[in-house]
Amino acid sequence: MAATAYPNYSPGLEGIVAGITKICEIDKEHSRLIYRGIDAHDIAEWGSFEETAHLLIHGALPNAQELAAFRKTLGEERQIPGQVYDVLRLLPTNTHPMDYARAGFAALASFDPDYATSPLDRAANVRKAVRITAKAGTIVANSHRIRHGQPIIEPDPSLGTAGNFLYMLHGKRQDAFTEKVLDTSLTLYAEHGFNASTFACRVTVATLSDIYSGIVTGIGTLHGALHGGANEEAMKMLIEIGSADRAEAWVKDALETKKKIMGFGHREYKKGDSRVPILKKLAREIGERKGDMHWVETAEIVEKTMMDIKGIIPNVDFPAAYAYYQLGIPIEIYTPIFVVARVTGWSAHAIEQLDNNRLIRPACIYEGPGLRPWPALESR
Ligand code: COA
Repeated sequence: MAATAYPNYSPGLEGIVAGITKICEIDKEHSRLIYRGIDAHDIAEWGSFEETAHLLIHGALPNAQELAAFRKTLGEERQIPGQVYDVLRLLPTNTHPMDYARAGFAALASFDPDYATSPLDRAANVRKAVRITAKAGTIVANSHRIRHGQPIIEPDPSLGTAGNFLYMLHGKRQDAFTEKVLDTSLTLYAEHGFNASTFACRVTVATLSDIYSGIVTGIGTLHGALHGGANEEAMKMLIEIGSADRAEAWVKDALETKKKIMGFGHREYKKGDSRVPILKKLAREIGERKGDMHWVETAEIVEKTMMDIKGIIPNVDFPAAYAYYQLGIPIEIYTPIFVVARVTGWSAHAIEQLDNNRLIRPACIYEGPGLRPWPALESR
C-alpha cells in the first residue's frame, strides 16, 4: 500500500507543523529569512556573525557594550583542551572533516565547566551555547590541520569568528574582504527554522539529554548531501563541469539520467532562497577582484539551465560553494563551516525546546505482517 494513501501521513513530514518557535521565520512569499524579527539580509549587510550569535542565543541584538563583551568572551573561550586534540589525533586521516567535528564536540562535552548541571538549567545552557559557538571554529580549523599532518594553531582571541577561523586555517590572517565574505556566509548559515538538523537537535534535547548531544546530533544530520553536505557536492559538480561552455549540456545530461543537481531545490522556498542573492553578489565580486570570472560564469549557466528545464532555484549551498572555492577554502571543510555557523541556531533551538519541553515522539503506521503464532526455533 502506498504510504501516501494514509490521510494523516505526510512523507518526510512535509507541510506538518511540528512546533512553535520565536527564533526564525522563513517568509516564503517574499523570500525573506528573519531572525527574531530582524531580516538576516540586514544583519549580513550591516552587522556581523557575533551580533547574529548574540541575537539567536541571548534573544536580543547586543548594544555596543554588550557586543564588545560578547566578542571578548568568545575570544577567551575559543581554546579547546589538549585531550580533545588527543582524541582528534586518534582518528584515521581518511575520516571526513564532519566526523572530526562530531568527535570533537562529543569529546568536548565533559570538559565543559557546566557538564554536571541539569539539562533544564537555562543559564548553564546559555553559557554552554556561548562556549560551543566560540569553540566550533577551533575544532574545525585544527581538525583540518591534524588531518593534514600540520601542527595545530592556537586561536587568536583578538579576532572575530570569521577572521580567527581563516587565520587558523591558513596560518596567517586574511584580508578584510575575505573575512567579510566568510562572516556574511556564517550569518546566513546560522539559522533556518525546523530544518532536518535543527529538528534532530530538538528531538535529542527533548529527551532531557544535554545540549552537546543535541549539537552532535545536529552535526550528524547536517552531514548528508541532501542537507549541509550539498555545498561540498555542488563545488565538486562545478569542477567536473569545468567551464561555462560545457555547463548546459552537462546539466541536461544529468537531468536526463535523473541525477539531483546539488545546491538546487528547497523544501521550504519554491520562489527563491533568500540567502542566495547576497552570496551570489559576493561570489561575483570575488571573481571580479581576482580577474577570473570562470566559476561565476559556469555557475550562472548551471543556474539558468536548471531554471529553464526544471524551474528549480539554487539554494544557499550553491553560491556558498563557489564563493568559498574562489577564496581558496578547501572543499572538504565547506560543510564543517556550516557547523561553525549553525551551532548558534541549534543552541538557540535547544534552549527554546527546553523552555517549554515535551518529548518529541511521533506515531507511525505499521505495514508489517499480521499477528502470527510463535514459531519454535527448530521449526524455522
Ligand atoms: N536536482 C534535480 N531535480 C530536483 C532537485 C535537484 N536539486 N531538487 C528537486 N528536484 C526535483 C525532484 O526530482 C522532483 O521531481 P519529480 O517530481 O519529477 O520527481 C521534484 O523536484 C521535487 O523534489 P523533492 O526531492 O521531492 O523536493 P523536496 O522538497 O523533498 O526536496 C531537497 C528538497 C533540498 C531535498 C531537494 O531539492 C534536493 O535533493 N536538492 C539537492 C540537495 C541540496 O541542494 N540540498 C541542500 C538544501 S538547502
